[in-house]
Amino acid sequence: MNVERKVHIKSFGCQMNVYDSHRMADTLAPAGFTETTRVEDADLIVLNTCHIREKAQEKVFSELGRMRVLKEAAARAGRRVTIAVAGCVAQAQGEEIVRRAPSVDIVVGSQSYHRLPALLARAERNGAIVDTEFPVEDKFDNLEPPSREAIRARGVSAFVTVQEGCDKFCTFCVVPYTRGAEASRPAVKIIAEAERLAQAGVREITLLGQNVNAYHGQGPDGRPWPLARLLARLAQVRGIARLRYTTSHPRDMETSLIEAHRDLPSLMPYLHVPAQSGSDRMLERMNRRHTRADYLDMISRLRAARPDMAFSSDFIVGFPGESEHDFEATLSLIDEIGCAGAFSFKYSARPGTPAADMPGQIRENVKSERLRRLQAAIDRNAAAFNARCLGHTFDVLFEKPGRYPGQIVGRSPYLQPVQVMASQSSIGEVAAVTITEVSSNSLFGVLAREAGGVGG
Ligand code: 5AD
Ligand code: SF4
Repeated sequence: MNVERKVHIKSFGCQMNVYDSHRMADTLAPAGFTETTRVEDADLIVLNTCHIREKAQEKVFSELGRMRVLKEAAARAGRRVTIAVAGCVAQAQGEEIVRRAPSVDIVVGSQSYHRLPALLARAERNGAIVDTEFPVEDKFDNLEPPSREAIRARGVSAFVTVQEGCDKFCTFCVVPYTRGAEASRPAVKIIAEAERLAQAGVREITLLGQNVNAYHGQGPDGRPWPLARLLARLAQVRGIARLRYTTSHPRDMETSLIEAHRDLPSLMPYLHVPAQSGSDRMLERMNRRHTRADYLDMISRLRAARPDMAFSSDFIVGFPGESEHDFEATLSLIDEIGCAGAFSFKYSARPGTPAADMPGQIRENVKSERLRRLQAAIDRNAAAFNARCLGHTFDVLFEKPGRYPGQIVGRSPYLQPVQVMASQSSIGEVAAVTITEVSSNSLFGVLAREAGGVGG
């Protein structure tokens, strides 16, 4: 008796939320929901939220204001629209969301979204419902697998969550509170998911986790597997040409994982590993459990294992107590790493985290000024990295039609978009491309065969 209904899911924040959004869509599909990109057409609107920074949270409430207008307009036309808030803001704020935004029907935390179809039925009967438990059942065991069509529509590159939560307790971060303690999925479940994705045409898998390299899920032999072991097994899945993982903590960059970068050709030579600061004094106050020297040592060990390795990072400016001197240490670290890219953030106090109550909170104008200088340093390094790619030949995984007719676009090993004149039939394939032109955010190239096979 499933009526056809439409769901619109809007994701905020990290890639893990993108993955969760897909899994919510998969789970709603048997209940008759198809996805729509047009929010006006939706019977169910899900906002999959992020709590990591203050702005992200405020965005959710302003978005909810817009949703309320849609909901009221639909009601006047005799159509019922249900609004659900999922993800980390849902987890952290629970009831408060319904108080601040009474048009919300469902609040579902990041560990209970497999219950979405049941919550929907209950909300329709009894009104607003909040479920932010950390249930005993494993949500991953209770989620529907995606259909072949859904996988195809999402493209040749897919995410798979392998680990959630974090035990690191960096003093600025809400993740240990919103996503809970570190937990890893069993390897067999991940392998089965990868095989299903590969059979439907996926060529690249990015393993996701808040602290992905702390992975220690149960292996088929009953013993915990480190991430390196899981990657080695996934490298054997037929059809999977590329593997990536994100986000890593420098402390968990074990020798076996560094060696995996040497031993597994399908493991891409690009790593996102946040440093947060270049100042040991700040790293200590952030409870990062690594020093600047540790970080640089990790980078050089990875480069020794795989010379074409490139790095991206996250940096926070204006952490409580940060002096100009500390900040300059961050700037110099960026140059020392030669970051291919990085995300930069102004510190924002998150209630309930230790740093929120630390002395030495930095004025907003100082944070803004440091952020500008940080971004300039990142842009300069990223531009230098892109410029170094000119004339090089590397593999590109073609993902979709390009900007102009006859063009297709893919990703380099370093996640840069690469535009190439080539047949649409190459989408889903990996081919060697020689880079002939570099612009601010794209590379242009020709298939290496046509270029006469220039070595990279
Ligand atoms: N303020 C600013 N940036 C933060 N991040 C996490 N918490 C905060 C905060 N309170 C940044 C970190 C992290 C990234 C995902 O978000 O750099 O690596
Ligand atoms: Fe947050 Fe990452 Fe630190 Fe964990 S390791 S507390 S997720 S910043």
